[in-house]
Order: sequence, then structure tokens, then C-alpha cells
Amino acid sequence: GKGAAMVTAVAYRLAEQSQQIAQTLSEFRLTTEQLLEVKKRMRTEIQNGLSRSTQDSATVKMLPTFVRSTPDGTENGDFLALDLGGTNFRVLLVKIRSGKRTSVDMHNKIYAIPLEVMQGTGEELFDHIVQCISDFLDYMGMKNARLPLGFTFSFPCRQTSLDAGILMTWTKGFKATDCEGEDVVGLLREAIKRREEFDLDVVAVVNDTVGTMMTCAFEEPTCEIGLIAGTGSNACYMEEMRNIEMIEGDEGQMCVNMEWGAFGDNGCLDDIRTEYDRAVDEFSLNPGKQSYEKMCSGMYLGEIVRNILIDLTKRGFLFRGQISETLKTRGIFETKFLSQIESDRLALLQVRSILQHLGLDSTCDDSIIVKEVCGAVSHRAAQLCGAGMAAVVDKIRENRGLEHLDITVGVDGTLYKLHPHFSGVMHQTVKELAPQCDVNFLLSEDGSGKGAALITAVGCRLRQELNN
Ligand code: GLC
Repeated sequence: GKGAAMVTAVAYRLAEQSQQIAQTLSEFRLTTEQLLEVKKRMRTEIQNGLSRSTQDSATVKMLPTFVRSTPDGTENGDFLALDLGGTNFRVLLVKIRSGKRTSVDMHNKIYAIPLEVMQGTGEELFDHIVQCISDFLDYMGMKNARLPLGFTFSFPCRQTSLDAGILMTWTKGFKATDCEGEDVVGLLREAIKRREEFDLDVVAVVNDTVGTMMTCAFEEPTCEIGLIAGTGSNACYMEEMRNIEMIEGDEGQMCVNMEWGAFGDNGCLDDIRTEYDRAVDEFSLNPGKQSYEKMCSGMYLGEIVRNILIDLTKRGFLFRGQISETLKTRGIFETKFLSQIESDRLALLQVRSILQHLGLDSTCDDSIIVKEVCGAVSHRAAQLCGAGMAAVVDKIRENRGLEHLDITVGVDGTLYKLHPHFSGVMHQTVKELAPQCDVNFLLSEDGSGKGAALITAVGCRLRQELNN
């Protein structure tokens, strides 16, 4: 009768809906063929960044870091480190004691950087940083020592030496004025002078990928790659000097900060980008820039998810077709929420309570769909990141003329550490796409701070050798 017809109609509509949702999410499912293509394109961009003739227009900048070797165990002394550009801003005191067994002792404090400082003037930003250092030195009772300092500054910098780095462009959530095109070590030194309260010896400016690699290399000498999968996404590795055409000399190696987040900025990933990726880009602080980072890193995954949810809601598949104010709010899905939603141990009821906590009223069906959307987006991110890494390890293998390469990657970042599936999918992808390499991933605890201190220690030693 009538009832049966209605049930059939509802069932039909539900089937139709889930088919349409599946269709939407299928764009995020990349085939092995597509991933191999991404790997190949990354390889091309790496070459463009390294070659003198193409470097100017290259998107993956392959920036020399002036770090020429991994730690050798003779590093020693007390160092201050700053860590700017990740989830937290931190000031650290790192005590390295070389000997039979080297020991590293660390103290650190996290400081907030208010949004208006991140996006205010450069002077305000650097004054704020120095204010935090001042507080930290008071706290440690060390204001009178002129400590050597390593500055982990996790943005693209054109370096001419270990202690000079011109900020090329802000990335992620930063946009302070009057910094791009300036040497950030100079900006820091000037801010220290302005305060007239203490003196520091700024020895090195370090990318977080490089700090992470150095920290892992300290314990594991086969570590010659650094990877960050966090707020941003980037990698560095030890490249042969002869291949770095922008730097004089052919002997030995130098660590190169790839700045791979900008991969795709010339349009080479457009065939796999979706309308949601384009929407995230359009409303970001840096439209048209960091295409790959916007598909792979914690700062943007939640935004992709939110854009898909808005679309599904508009089409009537979610939240009873009602787009709430919350759903319109940028940045609501932080990495930690995505990680919770995708946790296998979580019952649907708990997913609902997370959504509730974010201010989203969901039905049981809604929460299933939200979880699926999160899964599709983070899975693609991990695969893309793996494809990039596969390009890097194969490049190193070919540099050395090897059939087979064993190598370790030092990794850090909230996405890698907190997300329940990201690391596993990424590892698996590297395995599939670079079968001639055995890649070991080593989690770096507190990589960027400790690494900056290690690099500073090497810098101090080299300077002493030069003076003698
Ligand atoms: C952004 C920065 C890069 C950094 C990465 C991870 O991509 O440009 O320098 O390494 O984020 O923090």
C-alpha cells in the first residue's frame, strides 16, 4: 500500500544520497598511477630548484642551509633556542655535554603569539619575541650570560650563511608587515638592541625540518632527511654539493630546505586539486601559494573538511540542510579534532559529542558522514606526502648510484604525531612508490629546538676554528 511505497521512496532517496556523497569523496581517492605521477612531478620540480638556469622561476625552491654535516658528538655548551612557526612559540635552554655519552638537557617555556601580533607589524612581532626571551631568561636566572642562540624560524629563507636568512614570503598563519625581503637575524638583533636589557649571540637561523633532521641524526647517523607534517608541510635532506648549482664548490654535501609546500604553485597539481582545495586557497592568507601544503598539512585539512561539509549540507545531505554559524567559521576543525574524530576506538556517539562540542548538532547519520569526509581528506594528505617523500629518497639513491638505499627520516609535527592513520598511510605509500628504498621513520622528540642548539654548537665551533 501507501506505506510501503513511502518506505521505498525513502530508501531510494537514501541510496541516491550515499551514492552522491561517495561520488564527491571519490575525487579524493588517488590511484597508484596518479601518485606515481605526483612523485615524478616532484622530481622535476626538485631538479628545477637545484639548477641555476631554472632556479629563479622554480616553485620548489631547494634552499641551501649552510649545514654541511650532521652532528659528530663533539658538540658542547649551553645554548638558547627559539622556535617560531609551528603550533607553539617556544624559548628553550639546551645544555649539551659531550663525552663518552653525550647528554642533552632542556628547559623550555611556551609563549602565546596573539593573532594581532602574528599579523601586525614586523617590529611588534620581534619586540614580542624579545619580550618572551626576557621573561625566559628571568625565569632561568640567566640574564647576564651572553648566550649563543639558534633561531628556528620555520619559513622560507634565502640564506647566504648560517647566520643570515632573508624571509622570502610568510607562510601558514603569519603575515607581519615589513619582514619579507629582510634578514630575520638582523630583525632579531635589532629588537634585542632596542630593548637594551641583555645581549645574545645569534649564531644560526634554522628551518624546523633541518632541526628535526639534526636531532635524529644525533642518535641515528643514517638520518639524512627531515620531515615536518604539522601546521605546515616541508622536508629537507643532505644533497650533494655538485648538484646545488647556486653554491660554489663540488665537495661533500649540504642540507637543502626544499620548501616543498609550494609544490603545485605553477599549476602542475591542478588535475588533482578539487573545488574544495580551490575554495580553501581562495580564502587563505596567501592565495595561489603553498598548493601542496594546503592539501597535506594540519592548518588546512580541517578547512577542506569544512568546505566539503558546507557543500554536502547545501545539497541537503547533512545537518538537515541547515548551515549553522559554526560551520561557517574558519578554522574550527583543528588537527586535534580531526584526529579524535578518526580515532578507531571512538564510538559514533563520541564523534557526535565532539561535533556537539564544536557547536554542530548532528544526527547519527551525520556523524558517519563527517567521519567519512575526514577520512577521505586525511588519507589523500598522507598519500600525497608519501609521494613527495618517495621522490626524495629515490633522488638520494640515484645521487649515490645505488640499486638499494637504506635511509632514516627524522619526523616531527602534530599531524604525524596525533593523527591515528596519517603516519601509517604515509609510510605505506613511500614503500609502494619507492620500492628500491628501505625508509625508516624516526620520531623526533622536540626536534626543532634541540636541533637548533646542535647547529648553533657546530657554528660556534667552526667560528672558533676560523679565529685560531
Ligand atoms: C611551511 C614553511 C616551512 C616549514 C613548514 C613546516 O611550509 O614555509 O619553512 O618548514 O611550514 O613548519
